[in-house]
Amino acid sequence: MTAVGIDAIEIRTGKLKLDLAETFAPQKGEDPEKYTKGIGLEQSSFPDVYEDIVTMGANAAKSLMDRKGLVPDDIGRIDVATESAFDNSKPVSTYIAGCLEQVYEGDFHHANKGERKFACLAGTQSIDDAYNWIRAGRNRGRAALVVATDTALYARGDPGEATQGAGAVAMLITEEPSVVELSTEQGYGSADETDFLKPNQQFPSVDGKRSVQVYLARMREALEDYESVAGDTHPDDFDYIPFHTPFPGMVRKAALLGYRHMTRGTDVEDALESEIGRQPREEAYDSWDDYEEAIRGYMDELKETEQYREWYERVIDPTINISSQIGNWYTGSVHIARLSALKTAAEEGKEMAGKRMLVGSYGSGAQAEIHAETVRDGWREEVTALDVDDQLARRYDLSYDEYELVHDVHNHDKEVDVEEFTHPDGEFVFTGWGRMNERK
Ligand code: HMG
Repeated sequence: MTAVGIDAIEIRTGKLKLDLAETFAPQKGEDPEKYTKGIGLEQSSFPDVYEDIVTMGANAAKSLMDRKGLVPDDIGRIDVATESAFDNSKPVSTYIAGCLEQVYEGDFHHANKGERKFACLAGTQSIDDAYNWIRAGRNRGRAALVVATDTALYARGDPGEATQGAGAVAMLITEEPSVVELSTEQGYGSADETDFLKPNQQFPSVDGKRSVQVYLARMREALEDYESVAGDTHPDDFDYIPFHTPFPGMVRKAALLGYRHMTRGTDVEDALESEIGRQPREEAYDSWDDYEEAIRGYMDELKETEQYREWYERVIDPTINISSQIGNWYTGSVHIARLSALKTAAEEGKEMAGKRMLVGSYGSGAQAEIHAETVRDGWREEVTALDVDDQLARRYDLSYDEYELVHDVHNHDKEVDVEEFTHPDGEFVFTGWGRMNERK
């Protein structure tokens, strides 16, 4: 069977940044380490006043098309994944196509355009749609462009405010891809949940603590479902495990849960037996609550073991290097985690071709999806071509007052007129509602 997967990736960060330790923590009267160590974030990205989900998405897509030497005729499908859409009729992909048509010969008149929504999961679902379209033989040799783009803002004073972010990830999905091949096996954990909602509102209503538990429950179900088709997993099967990363502290919890699940009944559990005992078995407890408490106790000990710490540093830490500097990009977040792992591998001179990753995506509402990916020969060339570090280093460092202004600008409920902080530099910019985005 021909391999189908991700052939190229480009990102576009919002051009502003908020430093959580230096700028945010003092204003909130919090210990900076709550953010840098507890939540795990150093900085968040924000869009300048002329940036939005369309411009960030179009700029990422243009970089990708330029680097791969593509023209519109090469692309048969544009799917945008977002939970920050501002148009309840036209999909954001039409706006992005409109931008790209200003700069390329030809147009996207024969491309299928759509918009996917399932909170942060939609980026992965769009890749799935592209995968299925190619596998069904409907692509006529053309590639699919998937753009995950979001401005992830919370109301000021909401506990989620510390986890904000903004940016876009553009990905090209093709046959014989350069970066990763996707597995046909997938697992899902899905249930109607109300911990994170935006019904006709700009900022989410969030029960943050509960959202953490819902994430973990759906991720565990997805892992079990994945194993029911792919067979039992073992932590040594995967070089990296990129998870949806609303903030790195969340990934710490997901990784521990995954490790415990994957090591149950394995040589790892045997090796740890003398140190922390065997994992609690449900049948040994009278109630589910007692069993859960025993599991929590086991996990508290597990996370302190040398074995777990070494695994976490090797398999999980590399996936959060980028996200700790940008915050939550919602639909783009898990794709940033994958990129972060591969970028770190390239920097460390590690060979990844043929190696496997397990990817755990999640969206509130709520659904988790797990699949495996096999890294392809062209991964290093693709990943080292990106300018992630430059983009992050060039961001304008906001003062707290400036942050509040920018936050108001991107709150569509408010009319605010603010001068731009950076200058457009040959990029698509937002020029007003109902008008075409321009390139400046
Ligand atoms: P909070 O309640 O303000 O924080 O916000 P906290 O008090 O729970 O502290 C966070 C961590 O920092 C804790 O560690 C503290 O112990 C530690 P943990 O117990 O979790 O390991 N801490 C410190 N560490 C070192 N030094 C200190 C210190 N102080 C505290 N001085 C909350 C946390 C999750 C509620 C908040 O960030 C939030 O509401 N976030 C938004 C919702 C969210 O991201 N949920 C995640 C799961 S849902 C999801 O991922 C979907 C999402 O992306 C949306 C979508 O799908 O569309 C959000």
